[in-house]
Amino acid sequence: MSVHGLIPPHGGKLVSLVVPDGRASELRAAGAKLPRIRLTEREQCDLELLAVGAMSPLTSFMTEPDFHSVCDGMKLASGAAWSVPVTCSVDNAAAGKIELGGKVALTDEKDRLLAVMTVEEKYRHDKTKECEKVYRTTEDAHPGVAVTKAQGDVCLSGPLDVLTPRHEPQYTKYRLTPAQTRAAFNERGWKTVVAFQTRNPIHRAHEYITKCALEVCDGLMVHPLVGETQKGDIPADVRMKCYEVLLANYYSPKNTLLAVWPAAMRYAGPREAILHALIRKNYGVTHFIVGRDHAGVGKYYGTYDAQKLFDEFDPAALGITPLKFENSFWCRKSGSMATAKTTNSTPDQQVSLSGTAVRDMLAKGERPPVEFTRPEIADILIASMKAGG
Ligand code: ADX
Repeated sequence: MSVHGLIPPHGGKLVSLVVPDGRASELRAAGAKLPRIRLTEREQCDLELLAVGAMSPLTSFMTEPDFHSVCDGMKLASGAAWSVPVTCSVDNAAAGKIELGGKVALTDEKDRLLAVMTVEEKYRHDKTKECEKVYRTTEDAHPGVAVTKAQGDVCLSGPLDVLTPRHEPQYTKYRLTPAQTRAAFNERGWKTVVAFQTRNPIHRAHEYITKCALEVCDGLMVHPLVGETQKGDIPADVRMKCYEVLLANYYSPKNTLLAVWPAAMRYAGPREAILHALIRKNYGVTHFIVGRDHAGVGKYYGTYDAQKLFDEFDPAALGITPLKFENSFWCRKSGSMATAKTTNSTPDQQVSLSGTAVRDMLAKGERPPVEFTRPEIADILIASMKAGG
């Protein structure tokens, strides 16, 4: 039987790495005396996801067999589907001082203790392999590749005791763990739930695909990524205002849940789309939206490469159903949102604006056409740009 009667987590069981209150003070005291490893922003995001079970069945940063199996064959050494490495790394000098079987304190950028790792494995971080297989490029211009290359040369793995997944977490009202979203779906009686991943404000195209998806599911979880993104992406605090206003004005509260996803963006396109879907399954979601160039950046991936990668998996191995959408736009001919599948209009009858064009308009204080974005959202973005955001 699945957890809360919903879709089973990936691997069957929701992992929890947060130590019970009874053990916390003892561990905190022990942690103060251990060698310290400062986690990068991506590693901190991954640690939180591991801690709350969002990365189930993973119970630690990846072992070497998992790392290679994921890079080479998109599965864990156990055979479970998985598409992107999740690593914790240090430089060679630090690695030399860490003994196998010893404990290390994992800290945030302010040196505050997050977790204790019992180091069972140290292995060479094959960054070239990771970049070639996962990102399909080794160019530094790719933001995910740049973060990977900046990581340490030695990966550490071993059991984790997590004390505090995040100091001063933001958006606490919306920061729901997989157990909490599952409980929320259960309470609402939703049997089928579709998740919408986004790192942008919700424009009309996003609104259209989320509502089409909701037509065939009981509930919609709007699940924006609020962890690390690249410079140039709209900051999460501005986006949160957009989501709140949009949902309050244009969505049915009965069928929609807003929760934040504290993950780092990797921009790994197709491979990341698979990761996004598998992780959402752990949150209790049965369906996942995959539109145009999901998790893509620049011109590194084809528009529908992410959708095609889902077809390479046995649906049972994924266990969550992708809902695939073509590029959506406002069609002047029919006076509605549409895709190439649902209209016979010509390109000049379709409202489609580049990201740069939209940014230029907003910077000048101009609202983009209402067919592209809701005025309430345009106003929040204009105000944030005026304030230097
Ligand atoms: S992403 O990095 O989170 O994928 P974004 O926030 O732009 O970026 O997209 C969120 C989801 O909406 C993704 O599934 C993406 O493929 C989809 N999407 C974005 N724009 C469109 C569009 N115009 N038509 C169809 N799908 C889209």
